[in-house]
Amino acid sequence: MLYRVNRYGKNVYIGFGSKIVCGKSVTLHSKSCLMPYTMLLCHKGSNLVIGEGTEIGMFSRITCAGKITLGKEIITGPNIFISDHNHRYDIIGIPIKQQGILTRKTKNENDSNISIGDGSWLGANVVIIGNVKIGKGSVVGANSVVTKDIPDYSVAVGNPCRIIKSYNSATLNWEKATNS
Ligand SMILES: CC(C)(COP(=O)(O)OP(=O)(O)OC[C@H]1O[C@@H](n2cnc3c(N)ncnc32)[C@H](O)[C@@H]1OP(=O)(O)O)[C@@H](O)C(=O)NCCC(=O)NCCS
Repeated sequence: MLYRVNRYGKNVYIGFGSKIVCGKSVTLHSKSCLMPYTMLLCHKGSNLVIGEGTEIGMFSRITCAGKITLGKEIITGPNIFISDHNHRYDIIGIPIKQQGILTRKTKNENDSNISIGDGSWLGANVVIIGNVKIGKGSVVGANSVVTKDIPDYSVAVGNPCRIIKSYNSATLNWEKATNS
Protein backbone atom coordinates (compact mmCIF):
# COMPACT_ATOMS: atom_id res chain seq x y z
CA MET A 1 0.00 0.00 0.00
CA LEU A 2 1.31 3.43 -0.88
CA TYR A 3 0.75 5.89 1.93
CA ARG A 4 0.51 9.59 1.27
CA VAL A 5 3.58 11.10 2.83
CA ASN A 6 5.12 14.55 2.71
CA ARG A 7 7.87 13.28 0.46
CA TYR A 8 8.85 9.94 -1.07
CA GLY A 9 12.29 9.51 -2.53
CA LYS A 10 12.99 6.94 -5.21
CA ASN A 11 12.93 3.22 -4.44
CA VAL A 12 11.44 3.50 -0.99
CA TYR A 13 10.43 0.09 0.40
CA ILE A 14 7.47 -0.30 2.73
CA GLY A 15 7.14 -3.87 3.95
CA PHE A 16 3.98 -5.91 4.35
CA GLY A 17 1.81 -4.88 7.30
CA SER A 18 3.59 -1.57 7.88
CA LYS A 19 1.53 1.47 8.69
CA ILE A 20 2.03 5.24 8.55
CA VAL A 21 -0.26 7.51 10.54
CA CYS A 22 -0.30 11.18 9.52
CA GLY A 23 1.91 10.73 6.50
CA LYS A 24 1.95 14.48 5.91
CA SER A 25 4.53 14.62 8.69
CA VAL A 26 6.78 11.96 7.18
CA THR A 27 9.65 12.28 4.73
CA LEU A 28 11.09 9.03 3.36
CA HIS A 29 14.27 9.65 1.43
CA SER A 30 15.35 7.43 -1.43
CA LYS A 31 16.12 3.77 -0.74
CA SER A 32 14.83 4.06 2.79
CA CYS A 33 13.14 0.93 3.98
CA LEU A 34 10.48 0.03 6.53
CA MET A 35 10.67 -3.70 7.13
CA PRO A 36 7.36 -5.54 7.61
CA TYR A 37 4.98 -4.56 10.41
CA THR A 38 6.73 -1.29 11.17
CA MET A 39 4.62 1.64 12.30
CA LEU A 40 5.33 5.36 11.95
CA LEU A 41 2.88 7.18 14.16
CA CYS A 42 3.03 10.94 13.81
CA HIS A 43 1.01 13.65 15.47
CA LYS A 44 -0.35 16.54 13.47
CA GLY A 45 2.32 19.15 12.84
CA SER A 46 5.22 16.85 13.70
CA ASN A 47 8.19 16.13 11.45
CA LEU A 48 9.74 12.70 10.96
CA VAL A 49 12.57 12.28 8.49
CA ILE A 50 14.06 8.92 7.50
CA GLY A 51 17.30 9.42 5.62
CA GLU A 52 18.53 7.91 2.40
CA GLY A 53 19.20 4.18 2.56
CA THR A 54 18.10 3.87 6.18
CA GLU A 55 16.47 0.57 7.15
CA ILE A 56 14.04 0.22 10.06
CA GLY A 57 13.76 -3.35 11.37
CA MET A 58 10.63 -5.47 11.53
CA PHE A 59 7.96 -4.70 14.14
CA SER A 60 9.52 -1.33 15.01
CA ARG A 61 7.59 1.74 16.02
CA ILE A 62 8.52 5.40 15.80
CA THR A 63 6.14 7.85 17.38
CA CYS A 64 6.72 11.53 16.74
CA ALA A 65 5.06 14.60 18.22
CA GLY A 66 7.91 17.07 17.64
CA LYS A 67 10.80 16.37 15.32
CA ILE A 68 12.73 13.15 14.78
CA THR A 69 15.53 12.94 12.22
CA LEU A 70 17.24 9.73 11.20
CA GLY A 71 20.27 10.26 8.98
CA LYS A 72 21.50 8.20 6.05
CA GLU A 73 22.40 4.50 5.87
CA ILE A 74 21.29 3.67 9.40
CA ILE A 75 20.32 0.09 10.18
CA THR A 76 18.15 -1.07 13.03
CA GLY A 77 17.35 -4.50 14.38
CA PRO A 78 13.77 -5.60 14.89
CA ASN A 79 11.32 -4.17 17.37
CA ILE A 80 12.96 -0.84 18.15
CA PHE A 81 10.90 1.92 19.73
CA ILE A 82 11.63 5.63 19.34
CA SER A 83 9.47 8.32 20.91
CA ASP A 84 10.06 12.03 21.37
CA HIS A 85 7.25 12.56 23.87
CA ASN A 86 5.79 11.29 27.11
CA HIS A 87 2.34 11.14 28.62
CA ARG A 88 1.94 13.94 31.13
CA TYR A 89 1.54 12.70 34.68
CA ASP A 90 1.81 15.93 36.66
CA ILE A 91 -1.89 16.55 37.37
CA ILE A 92 -2.98 14.57 40.38
CA GLY A 93 -6.50 13.11 40.26
CA ILE A 94 -6.76 12.99 36.47
CA PRO A 95 -5.98 9.72 34.75
CA ILE A 96 -2.67 9.99 32.94
CA LYS A 97 -4.46 8.77 29.85
CA GLN A 98 -6.42 12.05 29.83
CA GLN A 99 -3.55 14.44 30.58
CA GLY A 100 -2.20 14.66 27.08
CA ILE A 101 1.38 14.37 25.92
CA LEU A 102 4.50 16.40 26.52
CA THR A 103 7.39 16.97 24.13
CA ARG A 104 10.46 18.47 25.77
CA LYS A 105 11.61 21.78 24.33
CA THR A 106 14.82 21.74 22.34
CA LYS A 107 17.53 24.39 22.80
CA ASN A 108 16.87 25.85 19.36
CA GLU A 109 13.48 25.87 17.74
CA ASN A 110 14.67 24.02 14.61
CA ASP A 111 16.58 21.28 16.43
CA SER A 112 15.27 17.73 16.32
CA ASN A 113 14.01 16.25 19.57
CA ILE A 114 15.70 13.03 18.55
CA SER A 115 18.41 12.68 15.94
CA ILE A 116 20.44 9.68 14.85
CA GLY A 117 23.60 10.19 12.85
CA ASP A 118 24.54 8.69 9.50
CA GLY A 119 25.73 5.12 9.40
CA SER A 120 24.72 4.15 12.94
CA TRP A 121 23.35 0.77 14.04
CA LEU A 122 20.65 0.16 16.66
CA GLY A 123 20.38 -3.44 17.88
CA ALA A 124 17.17 -5.35 18.45
CA ASN A 125 14.64 -3.93 20.92
CA VAL A 126 16.43 -0.62 21.43
CA VAL A 127 14.29 2.04 23.06
CA ILE A 128 15.04 5.74 22.57
CA ILE A 129 13.05 8.20 24.64
CA GLY A 130 13.30 11.88 25.40
CA ASN A 131 15.46 14.45 23.69
CA VAL A 132 18.41 12.39 22.54
CA LYS A 133 21.13 12.84 19.95
CA ILE A 134 23.03 9.80 18.75
CA GLY A 135 26.10 10.62 16.70
CA LYS A 136 27.23 9.11 13.43
CA GLY A 137 28.79 5.67 13.11
CA SER A 138 27.64 4.65 16.59
CA VAL A 139 26.31 1.33 17.85
CA VAL A 140 23.57 0.82 20.42
CA GLY A 141 23.47 -2.72 21.80
CA ALA A 142 20.41 -4.95 21.82
CA ASN A 143 17.79 -4.19 24.50
CA SER A 144 19.35 -0.85 25.45
CA VAL A 145 17.31 2.09 26.69
CA VAL A 146 18.78 5.37 25.50
CA THR A 147 17.90 8.46 27.50
CA LYS A 148 21.07 10.53 27.03
CA ASP A 149 23.19 11.65 24.09
CA ILE A 150 25.72 9.29 22.52
CA PRO A 151 28.62 10.88 20.64
CA ASP A 152 29.93 9.92 17.18
CA TYR A 153 31.67 6.56 16.84
CA SER A 154 30.71 5.10 20.20
CA VAL A 155 29.38 1.72 21.32
CA ALA A 156 26.77 2.04 24.04
CA VAL A 157 24.78 -0.66 25.82
CA GLY A 158 22.39 -1.31 28.68
CA ASN A 159 19.59 0.29 30.61
CA PRO A 160 20.32 3.09 31.17
CA CYS A 161 22.55 3.03 28.12
CA ARG A 162 26.23 3.79 28.81
CA ILE A 163 29.23 4.07 26.53
CA ILE A 164 31.55 1.05 26.63
CA LYS A 165 33.81 1.83 23.65
CA SER A 166 34.79 4.86 21.59
CA TYR A 167 36.83 5.29 18.47
CA ASN A 168 40.08 7.10 19.10
CA SER A 169 40.99 9.00 15.94
CA ALA A 170 44.55 9.57 17.23
CA THR A 171 45.39 5.86 17.74
CA LEU A 172 42.90 4.73 15.05
CA ASN A 173 41.53 2.15 17.50
CA TRP A 174 38.26 1.39 19.20
CA GLU A 175 39.07 1.74 22.88
CA LYS A 176 37.25 0.58 25.98
CA ALA A 177 35.72 3.40 27.99
CA THR A 178 37.67 3.82 31.21
CA ASN A 179 34.57 3.62 33.42
CA SER A 180 33.07 0.53 31.67
C1 LIG B 1 26.70 -3.85 21.24
C2 LIG B 1 27.37 -4.99 20.50
C3 LIG B 1 27.53 -4.67 19.03
C4 LIG B 1 28.75 -5.11 21.17
O1 LIG B 1 29.55 -6.02 20.49
P1 LIG B 1 31.15 -6.02 20.76
O2 LIG B 1 31.75 -4.72 20.33
O3 LIG B 1 31.69 -7.26 20.16
O4 LIG B 1 31.26 -6.02 22.35
P2 LIG B 1 31.53 -7.23 23.35
O5 LIG B 1 30.74 -8.43 22.97
O6 LIG B 1 33.01 -7.36 23.47
O7 LIG B 1 30.93 -6.67 24.72
C5 LIG B 1 31.58 -5.70 25.51
C6 LIG B 1 30.89 -5.66 26.87
O8 LIG B 1 29.57 -5.14 26.71
C7 LIG B 1 28.58 -6.08 27.18
N1 LIG B 1 27.46 -6.03 26.24
C8 LIG B 1 27.50 -6.25 24.91
N2 LIG B 1 26.28 -6.06 24.35
C9 LIG B 1 25.46 -5.74 25.37
C10 LIG B 1 24.08 -5.43 25.41
N3 LIG B 1 23.34 -5.42 24.31
N4 LIG B 1 23.55 -5.09 26.59
C11 LIG B 1 24.32 -5.09 27.74
N5 LIG B 1 25.65 -5.38 27.74
C12 LIG B 1 26.20 -5.71 26.58
C13 LIG B 1 29.31 -7.42 27.15
O9 LIG B 1 28.74 -8.33 28.05
C14 LIG B 1 30.72 -7.02 27.53
O10 LIG B 1 30.76 -6.81 28.92
P3 LIG B 1 32.11 -7.11 29.78
O11 LIG B 1 33.16 -6.16 29.23
O12 LIG B 1 31.71 -6.80 31.18
O13 LIG B 1 32.44 -8.54 29.52
C15 LIG B 1 26.57 -6.33 20.61
O14 LIG B 1 26.74 -6.93 21.88
C16 LIG B 1 25.08 -6.15 20.36
O15 LIG B 1 24.27 -5.86 21.25
N6 LIG B 1 24.67 -6.31 19.07
C17 LIG B 1 23.32 -6.13 18.62
C18 LIG B 1 22.83 -7.38 17.86
C19 LIG B 1 21.46 -7.17 17.31
O16 LIG B 1 20.58 -6.71 17.96
N7 LIG B 1 21.28 -7.51 16.05
C20 LIG B 1 20.01 -7.30 15.40
C21 LIG B 1 20.16 -7.45 13.93
S1 LIG B 1 20.52 -5.90 13.12
